[in-house]
Amino acid sequence: MSSSWSWYIIILTVVFTIAITWLLLANSRKTKADEAGTASDTGHVWDGITELDHPLPRWWFVLFLLTILFTALYLALYPGMGTFDGKLGWTSVQEANAELDETNARLETLYAGFRDRPLAELAKDPNATKVGRNVFANNCAACHGTDARGAKGYPNLVDGDWLYGGEPDTVLASVLNGRHGLMPPMVATLPGNGVDEVSHYVLSLSGIDHDARLAGEGKAKFEAVCAACHGVDGKGMHALGAPDLTDDVWLHGQGNLAAIRDAITYGRSGEMPAWEPIIGMDRSRLAVAWLLAQGAANAESESTAAGNAP
Ligand code: HEC
Ligand code: HEC
Repeated sequence: MSSSWSWYIIILTVVFTIAITWLLLANSRKTKADEAGTASDTGHVWDGITELDHPLPRWWFVLFLLTILFTALYLALYPGMGTFDGKLGWTSVQEANAELDETNARLETLYAGFRDRPLAELAKDPNATKVGRNVFANNCAACHGTDARGAKGYPNLVDGDWLYGGEPDTVLASVLNGRHGLMPPMVATLPGNGVDEVSHYVLSLSGIDHDARLAGEGKAKFEAVCAACHGVDGKGMHALGAPDLTDDVWLHGQGNLAAIRDAITYGRSGEMPAWEPIIGMDRSRLAVAWLLAQGAANAESESTAAGNAP
């Protein structure tokens, strides 16, 4: 705020405060007519009641004076008079920061208890996974879903099938540093009927209905063109985030001819943001602990459902 605006505000505030005080005092004196009970009326009559011209009652007058006094005190102590900061030096930013510091100090004691413990152990501690679930809900659920089961283009994080590997530290690295999976369009490397042949071969890898003759033609082409990333056996590569093409888990929608042809023709990519700069190490570790716990619970319920629990 420039100093001329500051003075403008100060002068207006002072002049108005003085004017209001004067108005109050000028109307506070009792006239002779008031004492004699013959005050003139204001001319307002309604429903048989006539409004007389009396000064304010004493208590009301004093109340007004107190509010004016409060104004003077307030403007001396707190910011309000232009750029004058007030004697107490209070600012709303300071107050917000103080509250933030207090919250962080409280969280710090909470996180400190989890900091030096291994992820696998945290995954078994309900106190840790409870905090982790909240971190996940606040930061990750928008893309991966509240239950972490993902959506088209956003991987399911609790099915035990990992693009980049499921070791606790690898999962943590995915979260801290982010990931960028990139498959360029491959159509140029597959002239003629190549796209169809390779697509049928990919269908055959996961046992989906396919044309055996085309798939047979596609095998060599897959090994020449796709194996560099997806592996000779098509089981994917964690270092590149190249998905396993032999299972029935599909990152980009379904495993059918059209989707596979699309992947080859247009390429595929996915961007996982890096979270360390945003939520820091402590929160990232707790989110991962919750994910690992969910994954373990999932695996257990599936093996029970399949009737092969040990
Ligand atoms: C903006 C959307 C988005 C948000 C928010 C997001 N992710 Fe992701 N995440 C992705 C995408 C997309 C991928 C897959 C990247 C790829 O295709 O290579 C991914 C991959 C991952 C992976 C690797 C999965 C694997 O199979 O190896 C983990 C672990 C993960 N996310 C955890 C998290 C956690 C924890 C959070 C919250 C702190 C989070 N994500 C928030 C989009 C997101
Ligand atoms: C440069 C490495 C690379 C090459 C070469 C490559 N891919 Fe991929 N592919 C990937 C990556 C990485 C992804 C995952 C993209 C993402 O994160 O969204 C992917 C995804 C896919 C998907 C989608 C899988 C799903 O779960 O939805 C299919 C299908 C696929 N690739 C097939 C092929 C075929 C067929 C070829 C050969 C013609 C090929 N890829 C060549 C790296 C590659």
